[in-house]
Amino acid sequence: MIVETFSEEGLVSHDGELYLPVRLEAIRVNTTLDFDLYFRPSPAQPLVLYCERSVPFTEETRDRLKNTPVECFYIHQDSKRQYNRYLDEHLEDILHDPGLDVRKKAEILYDSALATVELILLEPPSKESIERGKTVARHTVDFMNAQDFPLEHLLRHISCDYYLYSHSVNVMAYSIALARRAGHHDAASLREVANGALLHDIGMGMVGPELCRKEGALTPQEWNQIKTHPSKGYQVLLEIGNLGEIALDIVMHHHERLDGSGYPDHLRGDALSHFVCIVAIADIFDALTTDRPYQPRRKTFPALSLMQREMPRQIDMTLFRSFVEIMGGTL
Ligand SMILES: [Fe+2]
Repeated sequence: MIVETFSEEGLVSHDGELYLPVRLEAIRVNTTLDFDLYFRPSPAQPLVLYCERSVPFTEETRDRLKNTPVECFYIHQDSKRQYNRYLDEHLEDILHDPGLDVRKKAEILYDSALATVELILLEPPSKESIERGKTVARHTVDFMNAQDFPLEHLLRHISCDYYLYSHSVNVMAYSIALARRAGHHDAASLREVANGALLHDIGMGMVGPELCRKEGALTPQEWNQIKTHPSKGYQVLLEIGNLGEIALDIVMHHHERLDGSGYPDHLRGDALSHFVCIVAIADIFDALTTDRPYQPRRKTFPALSLMQREMPRQIDMTLFRSFVEIMGGTL
C-alpha cells in the first residue's frame, strides 16, 4: 500500500520517501534533466513518474499537462542538488522568457537564490558556491533594474531552520531596492551591494548556525562567538571570494552603527560607508519582520516605527526615510 503524507512546505512523503515540489515553469522545454520528475494526476491520487531522467523534456511532454489541475512537479529529495544546478543553468533563460509573468519569474529567482544560500551556508564555503551566489546576485540586480513590480514578490519569510537562508535573500532584495532609491544606478555598484548583502552572514556558517536558532538568551560566551561572524565571513571571502571592496566592507561592517555601538570595529559616523548603512537597515528590518525563536514577527509599520523610535542615532535616517517610502508609507 502506498502511503502519502504532506508537510507544511508542500513536501510529500510517498512510500517512506520524501519528494519536494518544484515549479512547472522552472522546467524548460527541449532540455534534458538529470533527475526524475513526478506529478500528481489529481489531489486524490499518489505521485507518478512524469518524465524520467535523461529523457528530453519536450514541448509534447509539457503539453500533456495542458487542461489538467496539476500545479507543480515533484522531485525526490536526493535530487535536490541536481535540480538546483539545473535551475542555475536555466535561470537566465527563465528570467528572459517573454511568455512568463513577472511574478512567476520572481518566485523562481527566489527559489534559486534560496537554494544557493543554503549551499553556501550548509557546507564549508568554496569558490564554486560563492561564484553561484554572485551569479544569482547579478541576476537579481538585472531583474530588479528591468522590472517595475512590488518588492514583496521577491521576499519570503520563512522561520526555523530556513531563517538564515531566506534572511540573506530578503536582505539582498531590500538592499538593492534601497540602493537604487538612494541614487546608485550603476550596475557594478549594485552588483557589489547585492553580493555583500547576499553573503553578509556567511560567517554564521562558521560560528554555528544553531546559535542563530537558539531559544532563549545567549550566554556571554555565545554572544562573543556570534560577534566573530563578520570578520570570519570577511576573511573567507577575502581569500576565495574574488569580491570587490564594497561587498567585503558590507560583510565586515553590517553590524556597525553610526553611534559607535556596533561591532566588530565600533566604527562611527562617516567611517561607515553608504553601502554598509543601506545593508544595515535591510538587515535590521528583515530580522524584525520575521518570526524568531525569541520574538514573534512584527508587521511592516510597527517594525519601521520601532526603528525610527529606538535607532535614530544608530542608522542613517535619510536612508531610513527612503526605505519607508519603498515600503509604501510615511511615519
Ligand atoms: Fe550578521
